[in-house]
Amino acid sequence: MSNFQISDVRAREIIDCRGFPTVQVDICVGDKMMGRANVPAGRSTGSNEAHELRDGDKNRYRGLGVKKAVNNVNEVIGPRLKGLDVTEQRKIDMAMIRLDGTLNKSALGANAITGVSLAIARAAANVCGLPLYRYLNPNGYILPVPFMNLLNGGKLTSNYLEIQEFIMVPVGAKSFKEALQMTTEINLILRDLVIEKYGILAVNTGDEGGYATPMHGIREPFEFMAKAVKKAGYEEKVVYAMDCASTHWYDKKEKVYKLNKKSYDREELINLYRELINEFPIISMEDPLDEDDFEGYAKITKDLGIQIIGDDLFVTNVERIKEGVKKRAANALLLKVNQVGTLSEALDAADFAYRNQYKVQVSERSGETEDSFIADLAVGLNCGQIKTGAPVRGERTSKYNRLIQIEEELGTSAIYAGTKLVKSF
Ligand code: PGA
Ligand code: ZN
Repeated sequence: MSNFQISDVRAREIIDCRGFPTVQVDICVGDKMMGRANVPAGRSTGSNEAHELRDGDKNRYRGLGVKKAVNNVNEVIGPRLKGLDVTEQRKIDMAMIRLDGTLNKSALGANAITGVSLAIARAAANVCGLPLYRYLNPNGYILPVPFMNLLNGGKLTSNYLEIQEFIMVPVGAKSFKEALQMTTEINLILRDLVIEKYGILAVNTGDEGGYATPMHGIREPFEFMAKAVKKAGYEEKVVYAMDCASTHWYDKKEKVYKLNKKSYDREELINLYRELINEFPIISMEDPLDEDDFEGYAKITKDLGIQIIGDDLFVTNVERIKEGVKKRAANALLLKVNQVGTLSEALDAADFAYRNQYKVQVSERSGETEDSFIADLAVGLNCGQIKTGAPVRGERTSKYNRLIQIEEELGTSAIYAGTKLVKSF
């Protein structure tokens, strides 16, 4: 057996940060090397995502088990991949797509396929003796600006905020390391401010580690963040962003957005956003409108003149991004590998976005594990931005701490995207 040949493929059921089962895959190469990856899971998912296969057996994990997906890796995908060259990522991904045979990967499960696809890249990097970011791209050197979700709402918490993520963006730092320090300091001050106003129960956290406070509406979280930033002395260095995840508070029947006990039509909502960005330095908005409103996205992108990211809108799918490009809807892609199901397709999505002057932001899922794959992916893509939650709890800090290592490893060739990112919008 050659040094590059896949000798074994093994999957198992593990749990993610919500205590939900997910898939872990090991790819063995030759007799000595291996690569491992864990699959994340969404909660505030787009309706056009690839299919996540769950067992539905109510006697185990409330029906959320992933034994079927695990078996599909061990019994269907594994035997097909044995003997293949582990560095042939695209060939392997395409083989899995053919083996599945459906448009949304519902036969084998996108969670099964994603796990294998990511573990293949890891194993290949290990065999080549390269760090993952370097294996993905020999010219990866840009450390991403972390988009830190410090206050949580929507489906990621049980509180009154419809907007899912209120995000702090430390563009003024000189390095990733400094950015992490700044946001962590701000986050601790924010904690004090929240306790001061709402009491100790208000600093329980949501799925992505941001505080799940009893705030209301769209302005209050920004007021708190701005206060914390000021107190920390970083006013000149920090800007803001938000993930509205508005599909989840859009009433499809009435065709209105229901926010803080009021109803807004599209135009009224865009006006509300405009007022907000006039008041706070908000440089980026994700999913500000319903996932199928491409025309609305074209309008808001033109009207607001900031970064407009499509998450549920694009679901990391080239076909949906093509439609976006045609209509000039949004100007950035949120990249989540498991939304589409293979690394090759996610890289194609990024490539297509770049070629059409769209930005790319690599993202976690709300259901994460300690796997830090996306840290390397963000550097490999030189995309300059990553979204991976608040700087607390292992499933989020694993990514931040990995970026610290990468920055150190790259030494003087590392460049923190910083203010250049905003200037490029
Ligand atoms: P998800 O949410 O991982 O639950 O889909 C995160 C997001 O909307 O960005
Ligand atoms: Zn989102």
